[in-house]
Amino acid sequence: MTTEQELSVDRLIDDPRTRIVVCCGSGGVGKTTTAAAIGLRAAERGRRTVVLTIDPARRLAQSMGLTELDNTPRPVKGVTGPDGPDGPGELHAMMLDMKRTFDEVVIAHADPERARAILENPFYQSLSAGFAGTQEYMAMEKLGQLRATGAWDLIVVDTPPSRSALDFLDAPSRLGSFLDGRIIRVLMAPAKVGGRGAMKFLNVGVGMVTGTLGKIFGSQLLTDLQTFVAAMDSMFGGFRERADRTYQLLKAEGTAFLVVAAPERDALREAAYFVDRLAADEMPLAGLVLNRVHGTGAPQLSAERAHAAAQSLEENGAEHEPGQADADVLAAGLLRLHAERMEVMVRERRTRDRFVSVYPDVPIVEVPALAGDVHDLDGLRLIGHRLGGTAED
Ligand SMILES: Nc1ncnc2c1ncn2[C@@H]1O[C@H](COP(=O)(O)OP(=O)(O)O)[C@@H](O)[C@H]1O
Ligand SMILES: [Mg+2]
Repeated sequence: MTTEQELSVDRLIDDPRTRIVVCCGSGGVGKTTTAAAIGLRAAERGRRTVVLTIDPARRLAQSMGLTELDNTPRPVKGVTGPDGPDGPGELHAMMLDMKRTFDEVVIAHADPERARAILENPFYQSLSAGFAGTQEYMAMEKLGQLRATGAWDLIVVDTPPSRSALDFLDAPSRLGSFLDGRIIRVLMAPAKVGGRGAMKFLNVGVGMVTGTLGKIFGSQLLTDLQTFVAAMDSMFGGFRERADRTYQLLKAEGTAFLVVAAPERDALREAAYFVDRLAADEMPLAGLVLNRVHGTGAPQLSAERAHAAAQSLEENGAEHEPGQADADVLAAGLLRLHAERMEVMVRERRTRDRFVSVYPDVPIVEVPALAGDVHDLDGLRLIGHRLGGTAED
């Protein structure tokens, strides 16, 4: 047994100084579930909480009342604080609408006429619909907005289903450099004109450019592109500033990162990268949530003994009465299943121990694999209870 620290999410969310919890990790490990469970638990322990989800599964979204995509938090029904409906503690939830959030940023930074020109521009529409990193950037933007309202004791943030956990932290700089000139390279690629040279090229004027690029793009499209680049360029400082501010918010006291991972080699390797990266950026890591850990009701029966018992049942089966033989087959099957489960547990334990040996100071909390998906408040409560890490309930 290793003697790593236990992570208590209750201690974290009960501390009034904790204002932001960010759940990050690679895809499919349970970030959205963890964020929702923590939000619910914090609310039921008396905090005014909002959870910003990115991609909740449909049934989970429905159970939280996330049926309207209107990009603002809505109260979740069926959630009250410890002192009842009149006491403190409530949960609001929202689902990130990336396009709408991007639109809001544009509207905030450009005069109305220019904002309209940008929003209607076809290049803007394809950019806002999903350039790599925009979703991550917009999640941060929304977090900044929620924080600025001052309306919440606690903001719990889910992160996008990125392939790599690091995309989330890289997003501001990625989008920054995108607006800083990479856009030109991307959009001009067919014309084989690269980098900043292209920006100068565009600024020379429509007349000169239409001759070459106009043939490829069509002159209306080219005008759209120029308008877009000029308009985005004028907002660039604003974008950068906002991204910087949110980045500082993530580093500030009051923010806690939770890295979510499954007890599997690849997931924990991603988690390790993320832990390193948070440390390098001086971001406050609260701990690791090891989600979907397998357990058993009979831990004292090892895989080896279960296999041996199954084998002896199978070998002796022929000597028994027909009814007894059926029961033996069934028992042997169950023993084999148990043995496989024990093997999974041993593997998970070994993977965890390897992580702990490299990161002995990272507190860990384990959440068991539930029998089915987590798709309602009761399921979230169960997860939250396991995350809580306090013995009282
Ligand atoms: N501890 C758990 N036990 C059982 N199912 C889980 C658990 N945690 C998550 N799930 C399920 O796994 C799937 C992926 O979870 P999700 O939170 O959407 O992951 P992510 O946001 O990291 O992509 C969902 O169907 C969810 O219900
Ligand atoms: Mg998710």
